[in-house]
Amino acid sequence: MIILKSADLSRRRFTNIVVPVCEKKSITAEARLAALVDDALSLPEFEGKADDALVRYSTGGIKAERLIFLGLGKVKQVEEDDLRRMAAKGVRRALELGQPKVAIVMPDIETLKIDRERQVTAVIEGALMANHLFHRYRGKKERKVKPLSAIEVLIARNEVNRLRPVADKAVAVVSGSLLARDWVSTPPMDKVPEKFAGMVEKRLEEVGVSVEVKDHKELAQMKFGALLGVAMGSDSPARMVVADYHPEGATKTVVLVGKGVTYDSGGLNLKPADGLKGMKSDMAGAAAVAGTLYNVGQLQPDVRVVGIMPLVENMPSGRALRVGDVLKSVSGKTIEVGNTDAEGRLILADSLAWANKTYKPDLMIDLATLTGACMVALGQDMAGVFTVDDKLSKAITRSSERVHERCWPLPMPEDYKAHLKSDVADIANVAGHRWGGASTAALFLSEFVGKTRWAHIDIAGPAFTQKDSLCIRPGGTGFGVRLLCDLLFGEESSLTL
Ligand code: BES
Ligand code: ZN
Ligand code: ZN
Repeated sequence: MIILKSADLSRRRFTNIVVPVCEKKSITAEARLAALVDDALSLPEFEGKADDALVRYSTGGIKAERLIFLGLGKVKQVEEDDLRRMAAKGVRRALELGQPKVAIVMPDIETLKIDRERQVTAVIEGALMANHLFHRYRGKKERKVKPLSAIEVLIARNEVNRLRPVADKAVAVVSGSLLARDWVSTPPMDKVPEKFAGMVEKRLEEVGVSVEVKDHKELAQMKFGALLGVAMGSDSPARMVVADYHPEGATKTVVLVGKGVTYDSGGLNLKPADGLKGMKSDMAGAAAVAGTLYNVGQLQPDVRVVGIMPLVENMPSGRALRVGDVLKSVSGKTIEVGNTDAEGRLILADSLAWANKTYKPDLMIDLATLTGACMVALGQDMAGVFTVDDKLSKAITRSSERVHERCWPLPMPEDYKAHLKSDVADIANVAGHRWGGASTAALFLSEFVGKTRWAHIDIAGPAFTQKDSLCIRPGGTGFGVRLLCDLLFGEESSLTL
């Protein structure tokens, strides 16, 4: 649906052309278009400032129904995310106008400091993300609002061949992100562990990634005592999806683990009414891992990538886990349950320990909507990164800046482990107090990863949103997919692996 085309505006007829403009400055190479930009800039209502927009219907010598001029702000200050947002805005304008198609003009190659490949990637990402609607659960009328059927990105003729693989990669990476969004937005009744496992399996097999779904019996044989403890209260039995992309000759193995609580009621430590809202998103870690594996299947990197997605529903019932119960994890360690709402770390403990033992990875990363405390620390738009490996922490932060899925490092102080002491078991799943909750959760996980190079990313804040921003509509955000793809297969991946 994304098409890279040469920007030969004189030859063809267009419906809508989106033209980025900097503050008081045209950044387009096409002479005819540049004249129209100057014309637009002469109007008092359009200066090319960030967020300025102007739709014009007299299009000079260019055969287009309308031109949508979008401001990018000062030319020296334009960043990748401004391009992403510009493209998203262009698509949204076209959607509002009930249009089926849009063409977006790339800035002239000489004008911005940003690397050309990254410019094209950003525009494609912004356009595709803005064009994504989650309408599956709406009535007929709403469903009539259709996403655009074609988005053209107009570049110079001599760039087309060179940038085509870049565009293909960008399209692939966004596809996994959008899959993750839909899964997170899906109502919890429609994604209980068995169903969600089936959905992931179907999509990953489409791209040639082998998938095995472990059921309750197998998980019991594998001694997943902590995970099965969480699943006790639900009528929907647990599953674990193991996705394995294993190219011939791979010398490195990466394991990605994603928290997959398809609904987190808190269990017997039932959440208050407000706390229950949005808890369908508690499987966003698993969704991000699945989305990443979907991209891996398309991108075909030369490393082995294993995705582990433990899936449970955390419910209160007569069979539910109690406060005071002691569970035995895969690692052999016993865990006293101090709070049934700290269930994510229980299912991750088994999964991390098992994956570590089974695959002996070079790198292990988990993504989890793990703690409200992380949201208190960093707000809704940033994830917390926990690792004792500084190089890995920096690589994650740099990737996060590039893809604009923001992350910030948080500490794992050794001495805080003392807070997780239990009187009866090897460790407790919660500290005796709530202070530093994101850090104590990370420290708990660290007990199950051995000496493997590992990072934990707490995505409780950014996994789900109620606000409508240009690239992201309310619902699942797909947070983590573009981040992991950049980290593992982006320009600096050699530093990570
Ligand atoms: N799924 C929640 C964390 C969460 C909260 C995610 C808000 C997204 C938004 C997690 O399972 C949880 O309930 N954590 C508890 C831990 C506490 C009991 C130590 C929390 O953060 O309150
Ligand atoms: Zn919980
Ligand atoms: Zn949870």
